[in-house]
Amino acid sequence: MLLKLLILSIVTLISAEKVRYDNYALYKVEPKTEDHLKFLKELEHEGKLDFWKPVDQIGDYASVVAPPEMRKEFERSLKKRSIHSEMMLENIQEAFDSQIYSRKRRSAGPEMFWTNYQTMEDIYEWFEYLARTHSDIVSLVTIGRSFEGRNITGVRISRGNSNRNFIIEGGQIGADWLSPTVVAYMVDQLVKGDDPQALRATQDFTWHIFPIVNPDGHQFSQDSVRLWTKNRKPSILSRAPGAIGADLSRNWNSQWGVHGANFDPFSNTYPGLGPFSEDETRQFARYIETIGTRTTAFLSFRGFGQRLLIPFAHSTEPMFNFNETIAIGRRAMGEMAVRYNTQYQVGTSAQVSVGSTGNVADWVKFRFNPPLVFTYLLRDQGSWGYTLPVNQVLPSCEETFDSVMAIIREARFINVIE
Ligand SMILES: *[C@@H]1O[C@H](CO)[C@@H](O)[C@H](O)[C@H]1NC(C)=O
Ligand SMILES: *[C@@H]1O[C@H](CO)[C@@H](O)[C@H](O)[C@H]1NC(C)=O
Repeated sequence: MLLKLLILSIVTLISAEKVRYDNYALYKVEPKTEDHLKFLKELEHEGKLDFWKPVDQIGDYASVVAPPEMRKEFERSLKKRSIHSEMMLENIQEAFDSQIYSRKRRSAGPEMFWTNYQTMEDIYEWFEYLARTHSDIVSLVTIGRSFEGRNITGVRISRGNSNRNFIIEGGQIGADWLSPTVVAYMVDQLVKGDDPQALRATQDFTWHIFPIVNPDGHQFSQDSVRLWTKNRKPSILSRAPGAIGADLSRNWNSQWGVHGANFDPFSNTYPGLGPFSEDETRQFARYIETIGTRTTAFLSFRGFGQRLLIPFAHSTEPMFNFNETIAIGRRAMGEMAVRYNTQYQVGTSAQVSVGSTGNVADWVKFRFNPPLVFTYLLRDQGSWGYTLPVNQVLPSCEETFDSVMAIIREARFINVIE
């Protein structure tokens, strides 16, 4: 608690300044027994260490960041219990510095370059430019505003006004800079339409693409606290004075809070006061409501873990069109691997990830049952996590777009869609 208060006062007092992570280390921790798991869960719950990726089952791994003064103690406690761990990065600040450096080198102008992370400002300006210069196929859509008043803006792309919708979202997690860029790259490919598959995809579907569902968290991660994940709405709970933000990726009205959330408002995985307690999820849900029944596909993107998740997070039972979905997913991940041999696991979140409920994909699947619903956990498998170097940005964009085209192709092949 003391540490939390300390962090909180730093964050609130100097919120205009950047918090630094000098000598914070990133660990990959692999539990082999139930006791190991239990210990890691207790550690996570204590909140002194930052769990980028919690772990819920033996065979999976946790990504944990330890501040310099806790590294020795953390390593000792793992060693004492014979829990296997590996230090992936000794100083995550260095990795962050190189991400920012590369970002700043982008030359001005309407052309986008996919060799580095894109800022919200650049993406939004470029969307406006696209809507002006390609007004026949691109239109701007602002579905609402974040708690702090920033637009949640996306684009609608269509050649021929198909009434079948393809919805894509990213950027629910502030610290995840990869998904907004990967999602924006899809806009680029679809608008250009150089590839015959991309061209046809924009004739057969109307695309609704939102790269940054959590603009406040994204901006705060760029300006102040690089590891910020949640939105920026202060808690109104008297038991948690000064706590800020809810995890949007756990705030949807689908088995909300049932699994994988921490109800401590200071936690990174705090799911909010209730389902749709947050402005961002509520307004996005309202938009999806207007097009949901005519939706063929819904894809959610975030960092990291190299997983393709299939509904539903709370269950390992095959539900709805599970068999078809898994077959399509596996084939699409085969396509994902073609360019750079990037391997993804495919399954429900309970099978291949942490099984956290209250996510957008489950909500969409349950509410509208589109034939194709997937959640991508993008690169990597925990070596870099949110510090993924910029030289992996373009490869991530390319391989992911390949796999999205493959989803459409494979779904047609087994007659799930026309
Ligand atoms: C936010 O969106 C509205 C409606 O689309 C637009 O008029 C306004 O200019 C946008 N604001 C900013 C800061 O981009
Ligand atoms: C799904 O696949 C499993 C295993 O191959 C099979 O037992 C089951 O009947 C299939 N379910 C449907 C609905 O096709």
